[in-house]
Amino acid sequence: MCGIFGYIGKRNDAAKVVFEGLKRLEYRGYDSWGIVAKQETRNRKQETGDLIIEKHVGKISDSSLNSKLLTLSSRLAIGHTRWATHGGVTVANAHPHLDCSGKLALVHNGIVENYQKLRKSLGKKGHKFKSETDTEVVVHLVEEYAKRQSLKEAVRSAFQDITGLNAFVFISDKDQIFAVKSATPLVIGIGNGDNFISSDPNALLSYTKKAILLGDSQLAEISADNVRITSLVTRKKIKPKVLNIDWKAEEIELGRFKHFMLKEIYEQPQILRNIAQNYTQQINQLCKIIRQAHGIFLIGAGSAFHACLAGSYLFSKIAKEHVNTIVASEFNYLEDFLTKDSLIIALSQSGETIDIIEPLKRAKEKGSKIVAIVNNQGSTIWQMADYKMLLGAGPEIAVASTKAYIAKLAILLLIVNGLIGKLENSQSLLMEAAAEVERLLNEENSTIEKISRELAKHEHIFTLGRGLSFQSALEAALKMKEVSYIHTEGLAGGELKHGPIALISEGTPCVVFAPLDETYEAIISNAAEIKSRGGLIIGIGPIQESVFERWIKVKDLGVASIIANVIPAQLFGYYLALERKLDPDKPRNLAKSVTVK
Ligand code: AGP
Repeated sequence: MCGIFGYIGKRNDAAKVVFEGLKRLEYRGYDSWGIVAKQETRNRKQETGDLIIEKHVGKISDSSLNSKLLTLSSRLAIGHTRWATHGGVTVANAHPHLDCSGKLALVHNGIVENYQKLRKSLGKKGHKFKSETDTEVVVHLVEEYAKRQSLKEAVRSAFQDITGLNAFVFISDKDQIFAVKSATPLVIGIGNGDNFISSDPNALLSYTKKAILLGDSQLAEISADNVRITSLVTRKKIKPKVLNIDWKAEEIELGRFKHFMLKEIYEQPQILRNIAQNYTQQINQLCKIIRQAHGIFLIGAGSAFHACLAGSYLFSKIAKEHVNTIVASEFNYLEDFLTKDSLIIALSQSGETIDIIEPLKRAKEKGSKIVAIVNNQGSTIWQMADYKMLLGAGPEIAVASTKAYIAKLAILLLIVNGLIGKLENSQSLLMEAAAEVERLLNEENSTIEKISRELAKHEHIFTLGRGLSFQSALEAALKMKEVSYIHTEGLAGGELKHGPIALISEGTPCVVFAPLDETYEAIISNAAEIKSRGGLIIGIGPIQESVFERWIKVKDLGVASIIANVIPAQLFGYYLALERKLDPDKPRNLAKSVTVK
């Protein structure tokens, strides 16, 4: 979803600083971008300076800033990468948006639900709109209020008229940045004689690691040497907590890799070892909370939901506990069962997925407890939770989630074993899984790449698994489809004959997960049924069965097989994308964090 970056301070190349910041936000997915900077006046005493704006459709790397902005002497600028929601992908719809006077500019993340009504009433007051966006309505609303109030009060009044989950950052021809938000993130970076603002802490890392998380319904006034935060409602001053972003700048660099997706796949063994060795205390604390709960719900979206599904099997199989799991966007159908004793465990890499945030808000109103297992410290879901656990996967830049997904599986494995007093066993199992992942990456990579070249010619691929491997099939299908755009369908082996087998024809590729567990015989017969109809079986498991035309050996790790088994699927996705000349890091239409419904 959209990215926001702003700078104010001693440097006089503010537009360039923002340009670099926006490049750090590219991974979130976007289709247009823009920057506005306040021109430095020759005599610094003179407060106001013109706002110079530039907007583009397409990628930042495809179009450099025009000379005016690159050479502009400016100490204040904000910029935006837009993922279109209201209004097409056009320069006019790109942010920033200006008011009628051209002295107030706004960038925005989120959706203004009541923008049509506001646009109509502002139109009657003579405001002229140049775009189809909901965002532009807001800058004119502030302008309207500013006719009778200070800019700060105008921002406050305007924000209170707006419905929806939003983050707004304004600059005017004065030396100040204003920021307000509800639910979508804004992080203020504290520099030395300068300050920054971003929708994502990753973008701040090359400038500062000191950050303030702006809370919902808080108003930030940011100048070069000061950040003042007040409550939007009470106007009371709020003393902000300065966090230290515990990621290193080089973690968001490619290093020796061509793509972030491959880099992050290769980081998995180390992440597994770190979780195995350093999570004991947190897991024991979380197990205590789980034992006190009455009614446990695991929710997530996309890959995170697949981890939740694995979690529900692990809770049942190992901890002998019944937990409910459902994809976050459908959670409202379970909400009637929530009580003050319920526990909701939200899994999310970004910690910003709107499909999770909204049900969590409703669950909190019912008094339910929230556990956040997320990758981004200070994210919205992290802030909402009663108990927080970081995945510890480091910044995940590629849109396709790999290392964060594996981290979720590892943590769930520790939790269910912690509940039955077998935490140590699962820690050594994770270490074994880390070693097997490392072996796969070193020894099976070329086999997987070779099979990917074959698969790339197909328009339809199926992935199959039973029991714990059902979620492996779903995750494999998601990995492959979202970066290669090949229609890949993941299904439970038991469902094959209830419909999908009708789609099998000569040469249809089917990836079959066959770990040595209770599902082995049944999934092998599924493979035989597919093969007898001409399907091409790619087996993933410890035994080379005759039904497999292609086979990727994965050591049997018991329940931890779900960790090693997904590595071939991640690499399939990566190599399929390359084979199809696609960028695996930035798949079309997708965003790294889905902050709008
Ligand atoms: C995973 O590869 C996808 N990019 C997507 O399904 C993702 O898992 C989903 O959007 C949830 O994101 P989150 O973990 O940040 O909540």
